[in-house]
Amino acid sequence: MTDFEYPDLVIVGAGLFGLTVAQQAVEHAGARVHIIDVRDHIGGNAYSYFDPETGAEIHRYGAHLFHTSNKRVWDYVNRFTSFTNYVHRVYATHDGEVYPLPINLGTINQFFHAHYTPAEAQQLIAEQAGELAGTDPENLNDKGIQLIGRPLYEAFIKNYTGKQWQTDPAELPASIIKRLPVRFNYDNRYFKDTWEGLPADGYTKWFERMIDDPRITVELGVDFFDESQPYNKTALQAAGVPVVYTGPIDRYFDYELGDLKWRTVDFKEVRYDEGDHFGCPVMNFSDADVPYTRAIEFKNFNPERAASQNPNKTVVWEEYSRFAERGDEPYYPINTDADKTLYAQYEAKAAAEPKTVFGGRLGTYKYYDMHQVIDTALTAYESQVAPLLAK
Ligand code: FDA
Repeated sequence: MTDFEYPDLVIVGAGLFGLTVAQQAVEHAGARVHIIDVRDHIGGNAYSYFDPETGAEIHRYGAHLFHTSNKRVWDYVNRFTSFTNYVHRVYATHDGEVYPLPINLGTINQFFHAHYTPAEAQQLIAEQAGELAGTDPENLNDKGIQLIGRPLYEAFIKNYTGKQWQTDPAELPASIIKRLPVRFNYDNRYFKDTWEGLPADGYTKWFERMIDDPRITVELGVDFFDESQPYNKTALQAAGVPVVYTGPIDRYFDYELGDLKWRTVDFKEVRYDEGDHFGCPVMNFSDADVPYTRAIEFKNFNPERAASQNPNKTVVWEEYSRFAERGDEPYYPINTDADKTLYAQYEAKAAAEPKTVFGGRLGTYKYYDMHQVIDTALTAYESQVAPLLAK
């Protein structure tokens, strides 16, 4: 391939990792960057679009709430978007009643029909958790009881977790949960970070601004492993072009050591002829009789957009969690000990690839929130990508 002029850097994946590296490569090295993505849009899993019927901004791959305490990341993202003053709060339906989450004094007093003070509630939970005191739980069920006591565990955690994993918690390893937060005050603000909010004019506008530079080109619907297109793995390696790869690490090596395991989520869209169905953006369903884990009512993330939303219609996405097969969207790394060992083997192979930087949640088999993936991308640019561009 001699007459084909490659750019200075090819990025596989237009998610937040890839976009951040592209933006940095142009800003700091004046590089010409070509981004490819197999999907038909940029933004990766944080992509959103506006629903014409309701005016809701739908987060195509599940609810995305931005939050961070990392000043470097907060300053960086504010260069491309402003944020609404949205504060995330979640509610749960259990046994015909709606409770605030995470479990707090409001949840506890409603559940026990009581008016416990913080100290009384703390003592009650300690007593209930004492049922399995001194034991070393092997399964998630016993661990949950040991952490917060049987009544609250069975009401709010047991069936929800069972639905998430499609497995009875008594069959799940205790190691899946380290702690279950209980707040002994009425604070039901979900995140504890310094900053949170939603991008004022939507996620996709934010991402478009990150790569709004003539030196960055984007090609959608292009698979890195499709040898019929010029930006494929074999051709780029032969040409010695630096690559940032944010796809699945096992796929990069043709699954030669085996498949890393993921959970995925299926979404079922339901439309209602009413302005507001739940009165909140996220409703968890903690009982076994509702087959989905939670429902997202997107309009309610953006009450400030009431004027551009349909007052008589709303759209809700119900979430069904399951194990991912090859070809499904990989969402949450399962991370059993076997997965960790397998990932370490792939990681060693990745380290031996001279001109490919592996990044993002798929490339490093890690769950990252958006602020974390941006932080890792800023660092990866400095420590791994910039040296490749300098050669
Ligand atoms: P991401 O997956 O976004 O991008 C990778 C891109 O690579 C994809 O666009 C993919 O198509 C492309 N690609 C893969 N293989 C390819 C190939 N062979 N050729 C070409 N392109 C290829 N975070 C947060 O802060 N707050 C939140 O509320 C949530 N909520 C949330 C809900 C759900 C259900 C999930 C799964 C995740 C979240 N997140 C989140 C996390 C957030 O989605 C995550 O941090 C970022 O999307 C990670 O960005 P990446 O660039 O790493 O991957």
